[in-house]
Amino acid sequence: MAYIAPSILASDFTNLSQQIRMAEIGGADFIHCDIMDGHFVPNLTFGPIIVKAARRITKLPLDVHLMIENPDKYLEEFASAGADMLTVHQEAVIHLNRTINKIKELGMKAGVALNPSTPVKTLEYIAEFIDHILIMSVNPGFGGQVFIENSLKKIKEAAELRKNLNTDFLIEVDGGIDTETIKRAYDAGCDVFVSGSSIFKADNISAAVVELKNLIK
Ligand code: DX5
Ligand code: ZN
Repeated sequence: MAYIAPSILASDFTNLSQQIRMAEIGGADFIHCDIMDGHFVPNLTFGPIIVKAARRITKLPLDVHLMIENPDKYLEEFASAGADMLTVHQEAVIHLNRTINKIKELGMKAGVALNPSTPVKTLEYIAEFIDHILIMSVNPGFGGQVFIENSLKKIKEAAELRKNLNTDFLIEVDGGIDTETIKRAYDAGCDVFVSGSSIFKADNISAAVVELKNLIK
């Protein structure tokens, strides 16, 4: 199965409910929320308050991507805000095993994100315990950046790891996903496609989701 996760980072926040509604009409599978703290990444976005608002707007699973230092401090807050999937960065967590267990105890799906320079191999001993691996295909921090080609190799490596471990985590790709890159990521073995600009900056948000979905059937 392939899933589209529109990232509201690129949406018009003065009209968030209408924007999410449009993405739903197009067939969005998850709603991706990018949390940035100005430390782990050089940008600030929003926190649990907006996740809570999104929770009231949609019944779709909320896929919350924490680009923050010390994410352990905020796991409960995102759980009670209504996150369904919580992703922490490998580079931001010291005791990944403990963090993953905590996310799962709080009733959420647990994921680990990798910056472009972090090898898939670093997840070898945690992969069987997680629900998804997020391959960053841009340097995290901003929407609208160009897809890094090496990410395709990492998606393949993640698919290989999944096969070798005989496990079932989802492989998610995030950054620079558009009508051109999505197909290649799909062919490399990816399952979840995060897309911000190419959906929310389009003239017709619903049609943009439909177009992306049609490319991964
Ligand atoms: C980047 C974020 C992405 C971002 C993707 O740090 O994690 O989710 O919103 O945006 P586009 O699709 O515009 O690259
Ligand atoms: Zn993201």
